Amino acid sequence: MPEFPMSSPLPVAPAAPPQRLCASTDLAEKGLAIVFDVIHYREPARAFAMRFDGKVVCYLNRCVHVPTELDWQPGEFLDSGKEFILCSIHGAAYDPGNGRCIGGPCGSGKLTLIPAEERDGAVWWLPTAATRPAPPSATPSVV
Ligand code: FES
Repeated sequence: MPEFPMSSPLPVAPAAPPQRLCASTDLAEKGLAIVFDVIHYREPARAFAMRFDGKVVCYLNRCVHVPTELDWQPGEFLDSGKEFILCSIHGAAYDPGNGRCIGGPCGSGKLTLIPAEERDGAVWWLPTAATRPAPPSATPSVV
């Protein structure tokens, strides 16, 4: 087992470059989300991006109550009134703008934010130390 001197930081892999998700026009206001594969803390997971109040919001597709995916149909995250992200399992409701739980069994929890931005007519997500791109062979087509 390698030893690291106390004064040396552990080696950290550099963050991956921004990842293009789709054209900006592919995300309609309060419409279907783009769902995509990531590696979150070294485990396969999925994330999603949607447009809400004109902005792209992006979160890990994982409920705070039980670590299961939220969407009730692929890419369908919003309630019928298109005001909240709703967990399909037990009905936790989250504020799409900031991911905070606003009702249901998610308590004071919050969805895991995935940094994202729009530029040059496209939507990009920004890998972090915790959330990285999935290997290309493991990436199914987005919905
Ligand atoms: S799993 Fe989401 S509310 Fe229970």
